[in-house]
Amino acid sequence: MPKPKVFVTRLIPAKGLDLIREFCDADVWPDELPPSYEEILRRVRDVEGLVSLLTDKIDAGLMDAGPRLKVLSNMAVGVDNVDVPAATARKLPVGNTPGVLTDATADQTFALLLASARRVVEGEKYVRSGLWVTWGPQLLLGADFVGATLGIVGFGRIGQAVAKRAQGFDLRVIYHDPAAQPAFGASPVDLDTLLHESDFVSVHVPLTSATHHLVNPAFLAKMKPNAILVNTSRGGVLDQSALYDALKSKQIFAAALDVTDPEPLPSTHPLLELENCLIVPHLGSASKHTRDMMSFLAAQNLIAGLKGERLPNCVNPEVYKS
Ligand code: GLV
Repeated sequence: MPKPKVFVTRLIPAKGLDLIREFCDADVWPDELPPSYEEILRRVRDVEGLVSLLTDKIDAGLMDAGPRLKVLSNMAVGVDNVDVPAATARKLPVGNTPGVLTDATADQTFALLLASARRVVEGEKYVRSGLWVTWGPQLLLGADFVGATLGIVGFGRIGQAVAKRAQGFDLRVIYHDPAAQPAFGASPVDLDTLLHESDFVSVHVPLTSATHHLVNPAFLAKMKPNAILVNTSRGGVLDQSALYDALKSKQIFAAALDVTDPEPLPSTHPLLELENCLIVPHLGSASKHTRDMMSFLAAQNLIAGLKGERLPNCVNPEVYKS
């Protein structure tokens, strides 16, 4: 029996890739930069499975270009880069990689929050540029954690892992998520209360049409002037020009972004001119073990789909209803 042909859009960690190669005839895109849309279109023509990353736009046209496709496996928990309704209409299961990146993303949220509150990056630039001449009683003063309020918007796996970490910092934690139960000492509140009361606001919602630009001028206007906004979800959740205005005018104290829209953010983007905006290149899940596990889950989803079995992590289980 020949192995089923699959296309893997980037060199993913060996933990997943070795498993894929054991079961499949894998065409693996070798470059650091992702394949273009046209390149993916060409390569899905005769494959039965596709492993994609969040940098790949997987739309209906692409699904139709691969008539033999049996499974779409996205190596990410977020699937906003995949047209899931289009996949469901074609009975194509879509896999994602939840759970294994929860802790890494919550850690990154805290790294950004601490760095922003304690002005770590500003301090580092200050030292490197030779400006450090003495210990200063008022130099680069930041925010305190003990007794401050952290507001978590979206209280799923990652939001809850952030609340768990917040307990160790003696933060008061409130959250907004009508679908979630209280956990880790966090209390549910409506969004306006959260924005009015929080010293730190951290966003943990998936990007959907309902959450696109959730963080808009009205949202920012309700935040406290000392507030810090952290976004480790998706760039599209935040209206970046509204954030620029809020940071420039000191309507809020600072922001720390793991994600932007677009990615990469052009080096000339106005947000990069602001000292009170910390931006890193979408590193939420970027730890060795986490990426190993994400590649492994993506491989498991792919192989299950090729065998006609239910994917261990499927975002559109409706495809299994007859
Ligand atoms: C990363 O952002 C993911 O969705 O896995």
